[in-house]
Amino acid sequence: MSGLLAGKRLLVTGVITDASIAFSVAKIAQENGAQVVLTGFGRLSLVERIARRLPEPAPVIELDVTNPEHLAGLADKVREHVDGLDGVVHSIGFAPQSCLGGGFLDAPWEDVATALHVSTYSYKSLAMAALPLMSPGGAVVGLTFDATKAWPVYDWMGVAKAGLESASRYLALHLGKQGIRSNLVAAGPLRTMAAKSIPGFVQFEDAWSARAPLGWDLTDQAPAARACLALLSDWFPATTGEIVHVDGGYHALGAA
Ligand SMILES: NC(=O)c1ccc[n+]([C@@H]2O[C@H](COP(=O)([O-])OP(=O)(O)OC[C@H]3O[C@@H](n4cnc5c(N)ncnc54)[C@H](O)[C@@H]3O)[C@@H](O)[C@H]2O)c1
Repeated sequence: MSGLLAGKRLLVTGVITDASIAFSVAKIAQENGAQVVLTGFGRLSLVERIARRLPEPAPVIELDVTNPEHLAGLADKVREHVDGLDGVVHSIGFAPQSCLGGGFLDAPWEDVATALHVSTYSYKSLAMAALPLMSPGGAVVGLTFDATKAWPVYDWMGVAKAGLESASRYLALHLGKQGIRSNLVAAGPLRTMAAKSIPGFVQFEDAWSARAPLGWDLTDQAPAARACLALLSDWFPATTGEIVHVDGGYHALGAA
């Protein structure tokens, strides 16, 4: 098989619908020569149904990133399908409703803790769970929403993403000696299930549609997916701890 990812074995988390960024990652990865194993959270039969829409039906392993048993058993389950991993995609985020939509000042710690566990700490947990399959080298890629700024309605999810961005840099620091790179893609707003759960998400849609210098298609996951795959490929061998913006250029603007 030829292509940018020929011979690469990738573990892709985060598929729940065919609008998931992870679905585009898996699809484009296969189209470019990669072998893909998926993980699914909760509604496994739904994820399996979506997985059958890929060019090559991909196996699905159950993974709740907050479940220590799932994490401990992940490497063995992946080994049933591939003999090692060249890359891991973290495409996971969740925050309880109290943490979003303007609730920043009132969200209770238990809810904030859930958001940080699923959206931030899990980046490290997933990388460590996959590590036995990646030595002597590999790449981890995650998805963020530019956390250098405070956004309306994003609230504690923004704090979780700031933590994710830092966690990615620390992963780069601690796993660099093993030849493992850690990078993030900062995507603009895309209409996925996670996005629909954010009350007021339309504000992002309107802002990007009006101002992104390159324009912005709210329903095209391919640009973000392609950037993830480029970072997993052999074309970024000396890049780690980096954040690549795939947002139509929105991040480069000052106040409009
Ligand atoms: N959609 C956007 O506008 C946008 C923009 C920038 C970054 N992102 C990020 O992209 C990533 C993927 O989100 P998406 O927009 O494709 O939405 P999505 O709803 O399709 O994917 C989110 C995934 O997280 C999974 N998940 C939630 N809790 C989990 C848990 N405990 N264990 C394992 N998996 C769990 C869900 O099952 C789902 O597959 C997220 O990190 C999100 O924050 C999204």
